Amino acid sequence: MTEKSAQLTLGETTLDLPIYSGTIGPDVIDVGKLTAEGVFTYDPGFVSTAACESKITYIDGGKGILLHRGYPIDQLADNSDYLEVCYLLLYGELPNAAEKEKFESTINNHTMVHEQLRGFYHGFRRDAHPMAIMCGVVGALSAFYHDSLEISDERHREIAAFRLIAKMPTLAAMCYKYSLGQPFMYPKNNLSYSENFLQMMFGVPCEDYEVNPILAKAMDKIFILHADHEQNASTSTVRLAGSSGANPFACIAAGIAALWGPAHGGANEAVLDMLTEIGDVSNVDKFVAKAKDKNDPFRLMGFGHRVYKNYDPRAKVMRETCHEVLGELGIKDPLLELAMKLEDIARSDSYFIEKNLYPNVDFYSGIILKAIGIPTSMFTVIFALARTVGWVAHWHEMISGSYRIGRPRQLYTGSPQRDFVPLDKR
Ligand code: SDX
Repeated sequence: MTEKSAQLTLGETTLDLPIYSGTIGPDVIDVGKLTAEGVFTYDPGFVSTAACESKITYIDGGKGILLHRGYPIDQLADNSDYLEVCYLLLYGELPNAAEKEKFESTINNHTMVHEQLRGFYHGFRRDAHPMAIMCGVVGALSAFYHDSLEISDERHREIAAFRLIAKMPTLAAMCYKYSLGQPFMYPKNNLSYSENFLQMMFGVPCEDYEVNPILAKAMDKIFILHADHEQNASTSTVRLAGSSGANPFACIAAGIAALWGPAHGGANEAVLDMLTEIGDVSNVDKFVAKAKDKNDPFRLMGFGHRVYKNYDPRAKVMRETCHEVLGELGIKDPLLELAMKLEDIARSDSYFIEKNLYPNVDFYSGIILKAIGIPTSMFTVIFALARTVGWVAHWHEMISGSYRIGRPRQLYTGSPQRDFVPLDKR
């Protein structure tokens, strides 16, 4: 990091605050010495705050750029596969053939879950939201894998990463099977990661399941597009939980909980619900007006982003994939037409233009998931499944380096100190 500084004058004191430069992207100002001066920075929502240093993912919100270890997301989506992207995110380089084969075989050999875990599902109602189940069962993994909880041990961290990446598809598919009252399907190690997930989702024990290669490829691309995204809310949650020394399974469960919100990963489910509610192009103007109305809590789900003030590069790939998959499957989904019309109208409206509101990763993903046959309630589970590698990579990066427990401060606007008032005097 280079020697630059920013001057901050506080009363009679002028402070020299170090400025650090990264490889690319904005410089950061180290404000660590402010506490000694009796002041804090104030940045609700962390709009202007870099909470850590990282080498994993870079986003340029103004240019709509997303790099994973330097590789552009569209190149990875077009040329790579999800497990290869997992390797890249975890180890920093694309694997050679031998490394790739070993990694795939390692993941394949961790896809089963402990038989006792199946019992956790039966404690839920059949109509439980699958994200509620995922919060529970992923956290519960820490009760089964005592041999990979010593976070200071590099090998424990690596095994925990393998287990989480490998078991998320199995746990996710079990949520769907449980909701149907169908038997859980075991993973099949002769299938690819995405093929395996589809057969666990849609296969049944009484007949062989033929994986549709178009759907498997689309599933894999969706996993790639959701794999990681810098310090988003759920990844920051995983880092904060990890900073206390919590075990990786508990940290990922915390990330799943944070992702569930409709402002974050829950948006893909909310987009489909919104498109279904809009129903027809003739209603678009009414909903766009609602989205612009300050007094109406309605927002155009799948639009806007804290960082992207340009087209989310993942949304571009997602939209192209929508056309490819629906075309190859011969599906004409009116919701796709509706989504594209909604995008056109919104993007020509001054409100959305001035606020730089573009479609984000969630705007088109649900249409592909629907074409694959995945129910809306499972959309955020798919997001959590894919994002697990990003969460684990950031957790591993933090724990492998020097870190302190995350402990933000506050601007206190409550009551000054006062004495207790006995009940008979109130
Ligand atoms: C994800 O962080 C990540 O990287 C997340 C993610 C990842 O991969 O991890 O990319 C995944 O979470 C994508 C975002 C999914 N969420 C949605 O699609 C929900 C709808 N979008 C919004 O709620 C909103 O855009 C956020 C939450 C995504 C971003 O919120 P910000 O950065 O806090 O922006 P904001 O709410 O301050 O909005 C800025 C302005 C506001 O108007 P003003 O107060 O300035 O007048 O834009 C308006 C907002 O009212 N606005 C919208 C809008 N999004 C923002 N108005 C209508 N519809 C919208 N969708």
